[in-house]
Amino acid sequence: MVPEMPGSDVDLPPEIDTSRPHPARIYDYGLGGKNHFAVDREVAEKAWAAMPTGRTAARENRAFLGRVVRYLAAEQGIRQFLDIGTGLPTTDNVHEVAQRVAPDARIVYVDNDPLVLAHARALLTSSPAGRTAYIPADLRDPAAILADPVTREVLDFSRPVALMLVAILHFIQDEDHPAEIIKTLVDALPPGSFVAASHLTGEHDRPAWATIERDYRAAGISAQWRDSDEFAQLAFAGLELVPPGAVLVSEWRPEADGPRPAPVEVSFYGGVARKN
Ligand SMILES: C[S@@+](CC[C@H](N)C(=O)[O-])C[C@H]1O[C@@H](n2cnc3c(N)ncnc32)[C@H](O)[C@@H]1O
Repeated sequence: MVPEMPGSDVDLPPEIDTSRPHPARIYDYGLGGKNHFAVDREVAEKAWAAMPTGRTAARENRAFLGRVVRYLAAEQGIRQFLDIGTGLPTTDNVHEVAQRVAPDARIVYVDNDPLVLAHARALLTSSPAGRTAYIPADLRDPAAILADPVTREVLDFSRPVALMLVAILHFIQDEDHPAEIIKTLVDALPPGSFVAASHLTGEHDRPAWATIERDYRAAGISAQWRDSDEFAQLAFAGLELVPPGAVLVSEWRPEADGPRPAPVEVSFYGGVARKN
């Protein structure tokens, strides 16, 4: 067993590599979760040495995800979600937020981390009226995600689907052709569907984020931060952005008044767009 993860409540499958860091576990550490290994903490701590507000960024992104799902379910009537880059289950997972609004909501979760798979099976359980399913797959192979029998069984592609790409696109470098990946996915969605996405940016402290990007790559994690215009062009090409557009995630339909963190503390852009 793995001594650095004492709080874990699942048996670790043998394919889990505890010698290399992985984004899901680094993010879990940032959110205050308990599913991470020494290698993940090392990369996270190194990033926070350059950017001490890293935890704020993770929390703001997670809050954005919740507001987006509520908006799509409550205000746009969306009942189907394809959530790629699910992350380790934490509070307010997509199906929990969606099914609070619409108990019949159906969610397919997708992630390429086997640890996410182990936890997802145990924790991402649906309300009786809805459905949740999980497939282990890589965003870099969108055709496989779309063709997976689980995707086809749970989601009806003749009715609107929300494609969720939240805090995942910055793990796809240009050499892996992210625009083509997104086009393949969006082409499969019927009109009335939505794309929701968020993305890390170096725009508000270039030297610090350049250091973090370099450290991630050195640790074997593919990473490319993008500016707001690059993000909007990549994630929402040909789609109609919902107001307020592609903005800092903290500025996207905030639900409470009061002060919000400075842009550099957020360092995540996000938005939602409709396919007409
Ligand atoms: C930062 S977490 C985001 C979790 C959740 N979407 C959120 O925003 O709270 C990114 C997730 O994307 C997954 N991921 C990274 N690259 C991926 C890829 N190429 N294919 C599938 N999943 C990937 C990681 O394993 C991780 O669980």
